[in-house]
Amino acid sequence: LPLADLKGQRILVSAGPTQEAIDPVRYISNRSSGKMGYAIAEAARSRGAEVILVSGPTALIPPAGIRVVPITTAKEMAEAMSAQFGWSSIVIMAAAVADFLPKAPATQKLKKGTAAVPPLELERAPDILAMLSAKRTAQILVGFAAETQDLIEHATGKLTAKGLDLIVANDVTQAGAGFGSEQNAAIILSRTGTRQTFDLRPKSQLAHDILSAIVEFAKNEPRK
Ligand code: PMT
Repeated sequence: LPLADLKGQRILVSAGPTQEAIDPVRYISNRSSGKMGYAIAEAARSRGAEVILVSGPTALIPPAGIRVVPITTAKEMAEAMSAQFGWSSIVIMAAAVADFLPKAPATQKLKKGTAAVPPLELERAPDILAMLSAKRTAQILVGFAAETQDLIEHATGKLTAKGLDLIVANDVTQAGAGFGSEQNAAIILSRTGTRQTFDLRPKSQLAHDILSAIVEFAKNEPRK
């Protein structure tokens, strides 16, 4: 029998990378394929939730039964997430959002010419999770932490700093896990101090594990 434990939930998921223009033909981005976020969206749908997926540019096929909101930049993702936040009961940010943006993207293609190499000045991107957490009503907020060192320490820092309920700590240096791969491994930490470890497994399976952890958290920490 298929699980229907998310029936009645409205789940807002983000997936994929953002792209931040340097000039009309170049951008700063990252190695996110969108697979993790899409897997969560599909798993949530299969468990009875209504799902909206805010997606950066990916090569993935939009999943059936899910409203996909395509965006390109961190600012667009911030706007799309804010616009759907009031609708949602659970928010899961699997997207790899830019932390830094080119401050003044060139309006014309930068020329090689003979001049000096053009400088690239960066500014901070909006922290979407921190922004949402500041205006939450009863939403459960779940973030990811993509780390290359001191996984638990950094993930715990983000859990607290961004005001999250749960964080999926992702050691992206582990072979076969993280960006672009079919599989992933994670440690899920909660603000109440619980910790669950999930060894390397298909992203579709980890997606279900993450949703089960959220269901369990909500059972123990009911909101209003
Ligand atoms: O897409 P795949 O190829 O399947 O790869 C999956 C993944 C590695 C991208 C995914 O498992 C993952 O770890 N996603 C989070 C990537 C990330 O940006 O992590 P972070 O530690 O930099 O950010 C922490 C959290 O804050 C994340 O939930 C992120 O979505 C959020 N964030 C980040 C920057 C920003 N400006 N605003 C945010 O809300």
